[in-house]
Amino acid sequence: MSRYLITAALPYANGPVHIGHLAGCYIPADTYSRYLRLKGEDVKFICGSDEHGVPITIKARQLGITPQQVVDKYHQMMKSSFEKLGISFDHYSRTSSPIHHQTASDFFKTLYDKGVFIEETTEQFYDEEAKQFLADRYITGTCPRCNNPNAYGDQCENCGASLNPTDLINPKSKLSGNTPVLRPTKNWFLPMGEIQKTKEFQEYIKRFDNWKPNIKGQCSSWLNEGLHPRAMTRDLDWGVKVPLPNTEGKVLYVWFDAPIGYISATKEFLPNNWKDYWQKQNKEEENPKLIHFIGKDNIVFHAIIFPMMLMQHGGFVLPDNVPANEFLNLEGDKISTSRNWAVWLHEYLEDFPGREDELRYVLTSIAPETKDSEFTWKDFQARVNNELGAIVGNFVNRVVVLSNKYFKGNLTTDREIAASPFENELKKLLQSYTKAMENFQFRDAQSIAMDFARIGNKYLTECEPWKKYKADDVTSVNQTREVLIHCLSLVSKMAVLFQPFLPNASAKMLDMLKVDSEKRKLTKNGFEDNKISLNNIILNIDSLILFQKIEDADIEKQIQKLHDKKVMNTEQNQQAEVVSETTIAPQLAETTFDDFSKMDIRVATILEAERVPKTDKLLKLLLDTGIDKRTVVSGIAAWYDPEKIIGQKVVMLANLAPRKIKGIESKGMILMAQNDKGELSFITPSKPQMDNGNTVK
Ligand code: 2FM
Ligand code: ZN
Repeated sequence: MSRYLITAALPYANGPVHIGHLAGCYIPADTYSRYLRLKGEDVKFICGSDEHGVPITIKARQLGITPQQVVDKYHQMMKSSFEKLGISFDHYSRTSSPIHHQTASDFFKTLYDKGVFIEETTEQFYDEEAKQFLADRYITGTCPRCNNPNAYGDQCENCGASLNPTDLINPKSKLSGNTPVLRPTKNWFLPMGEIQKTKEFQEYIKRFDNWKPNIKGQCSSWLNEGLHPRAMTRDLDWGVKVPLPNTEGKVLYVWFDAPIGYISATKEFLPNNWKDYWQKQNKEEENPKLIHFIGKDNIVFHAIIFPMMLMQHGGFVLPDNVPANEFLNLEGDKISTSRNWAVWLHEYLEDFPGREDELRYVLTSIAPETKDSEFTWKDFQARVNNELGAIVGNFVNRVVVLSNKYFKGNLTTDREIAASPFENELKKLLQSYTKAMENFQFRDAQSIAMDFARIGNKYLTECEPWKKYKADDVTSVNQTREVLIHCLSLVSKMAVLFQPFLPNASAKMLDMLKVDSEKRKLTKNGFEDNKISLNNIILNIDSLILFQKIEDADIEKQIQKLHDKKVMNTEQNQQAEVVSETTIAPQLAETTFDDFSKMDIRVATILEAERVPKTDKLLKLLLDTGIDKRTVVSGIAAWYDPEKIIGQKVVMLANLAPRKIKGIESKGMILMAQNDKGELSFITPSKPQMDNGNTVK
């Protein structure tokens, strides 16, 4: 038995979890942890919320609340939705906890005392009005490479250039809009170039040869370019305080403290024996295996920087593997929290209760294991109905129904049962399954588990018990019973292999077959130890529907929701959500008069209105805008009947870029007042002489 410490990237507590996060690391990490438990290994699966860093402070500023309020909200939300999806963390912690502050602080102090850091005074941008140093993300300006006017101090999202704030042309503070000034400040740097040269590091990177090519490639390119010292402290007031004298207003760099969060979470969970899972043991072969599941944007931190920190500290094992996934796209576009282009886990769980396995299945089938991949709702529907339902669900239910039809569920017999007709085939499949799992190829492993159901369906079709069974013919009765027994034995093996992927459906199958919990494991002998007793099968259910069909209407609703939400003002949405206890949404971040005056807002009149078919929310309107007559699709059907609004005067945003909603081109948007219950009302000029085309200033 080996000891494993499995981690999944600590998600930032500045927004809910979406399917990109799930496919990127939480589902693969959970699948792998469940697989190791299936083999009887000693596993601890650790995660928690990443509650520090600039993104949290930006979110808090946007919403007009404190960073602590932001993280409290999202920590709870993420924790509970992971739980509902069946992500089987042994412990889910958070980096604002006292134990984490203490652990991160001690870790920094150890490195400091060992003289690891370079202490350096550099010039950083400072906002004189806001009276603070500016994190890279708080500075925008023109990218020197592509001239994008909205590049950030650390990166240009247009051309991908990695930048320093001083590279920006015409830098501006996001806090005040002013041009920041350079001021000297002291920080502590990890001398990565020096550490790169050490024997220990050179020895460590030999491991990359066994890692997935995408990780090895990224790491090699970093190492070949040569590493530079990186600051491990920041001038910020949110985070773990720098544990040195005269460092008011400085905290540990979030990428220094966050990975230490894996250690503090383990400590919190196992105060007495956490070291067994983190530290080098007397014999090398007894060392725990540390495996970090992450998305590709986290590679350098987990494969290079954190290992350097662990090495410099001493005593710790280094990551055995860092299986990173690429990105998942959604309906032809990048997933984006700020544009609200995402499928949120908490919403999925509400909209599809009891269908957690279905989401897990699809996200594993399309997991971006080697390259970016894409989620679409149509594909989701097809995979659930045509694969899970038609192959697995159908096989299991056919067997259950036939067993009840011919034997009232009682298949017990004294007769000797012939060897399974698929024994050898299953053995080979099991080998491939194990190999795929060990190599983090979960798509393949899941598909191999599906093959069990394919084999079963084929066998049933060939045996045709429904044609051969004759109640008064003992031989045919015996043959039919044996066919069904072989099928149920196949179900039990398939269910064992599906446990890392479909925990709920597997449990239903294994419960039906009354398989004891210790027999739900996979040992060296393969299935030997979980054979069910073939002579004693009694089913106590008439049918087992493992997966409900996903209807067209379910999918259309989701696609509509995606588009509707993208249209709505994202910040307003998030505000309403975070500050759920207050009725009035806090004021949005400041905007400029310039930005406001770009909006062409006018009076218009509704000439025609009709419902958009197959939607609950949308009306298709024909508007007289004074400029022209045009179509606008509006999400107001819940509040207004189409017949009753002909002739209604409204206010509209006329120069909004046209977009297709449900296949209809919508040119503009009607502005509505909205209360805290989400109810909408037209806004109408109070004087009758205000006519179509008149402007709103
Ligand atoms: O990218 C992210 O979401 C980070 N919060 C991941 C941190 S992983 C670890 F180091 F804690
Ligand atoms: Zn650029």
